[in-house]
Amino acid sequence: MTSSTRSNTIPRKILVTSALPYANGSLHLGHLLETIQTDIWVRFQRLQGHDCHYICADDAHGTAIMLKAEENNRTAEAQIAAIKEEHERDFAGFNISFDNFHSTHSNENHELSKAIYLKLRDNQHIVKKDIDQLYDTEKGLFLADRFVKGCCPNCKAPDQYGDNCDACGSTYNASELIKPYSVYTGATPELKQSTHYFFALSEFTEFLTQWTQDGQHLQQSVSNKLKEWLEQGLHDWDISRDAPYFGFEIPDAPGKYFYVWLDAPIGYMASFKNLCDRTDGLNFEDYWSRESTAELYHFIGKDIINFHALFWPAMLESADLRTPN
Ligand code: 2FM
Ligand code: ZN
Repeated sequence: MTSSTRSNTIPRKILVTSALPYANGSLHLGHLLETIQTDIWVRFQRLQGHDCHYICADDAHGTAIMLKAEENNRTAEAQIAAIKEEHERDFAGFNISFDNFHSTHSNENHELSKAIYLKLRDNQHIVKKDIDQLYDTEKGLFLADRFVKGCCPNCKAPDQYGDNCDACGSTYNASELIKPYSVYTGATPELKQSTHYFFALSEFTEFLTQWTQDGQHLQQSVSNKLKEWLEQGLHDWDISRDAPYFGFEIPDAPGKYFYVWLDAPIGYMASFKNLCDRTDGLNFEDYWSRESTAELYHFIGKDIINFHALFWPAMLESADLRTPN
């Protein structure tokens, strides 16, 4: 490239992420569509002479990964190690120009997740509540929404998941399903009470209304969708899961683990931290402190907008960190 193809503007510091693929399976076309699009944007910025870092990682926690490991007769650690190798090989095969591909099951992510959680707690944004949840007594496991099925409480359609009905579109709690059964064992689950930790998302309504509606951060169509959710009212977000769970134990709550979606976006920071720690002149704080002048862009698919445009900016705000551009 000749210098004449570069723009004459001052180089910008840019950090770019693609959504982290789950470590329970192979990459599919959806992953590649997203990473190739992101990669084109990243390469364009680099050609403009900007200082653009592109990072990713495997999203390695949660029930689905724990069960996949069991199915494959190996430990969760062996499962995620094998998948990471495969993901890295396949992304490389498509010339995706990541500067780093890390894992959410890493020391960096453990330290950052603990530190951010403690900030949220110290800022009074963590609340404890007792909730009733469906429990598979044969498997000894609380059932996440997608792991329990039954008849829709609204239209009575059979075989619907615990969060919403594919036939009539209504949303409900898993405990409202008629004739519920565990997708693991087919057993009828029982309601069992447990204390869960919630992030007080509702306290960020004003902040999120401003952040999502100011025309600075999101496409118009995405802002509109979020406006709908904001008008319906934000609920506090359940960030804990009971053992057995493959993830990080909550520092002040033995036997409770961070829900995978709590530490997944922190995985963006962790991957970048891992890169900074082995790159001269690349400073983590320059990109993540509230005073940062670097730009931060997350490329995602529309099914994970709530995590990136509600929970994540609110968590960053509470933890006194910068929010994404
Ligand atoms: O939806 C998914 O595939 C998630 N694994 C994406 C996580 S993105 C980020 F928040 F970690
Ligand atoms: Zn229905």
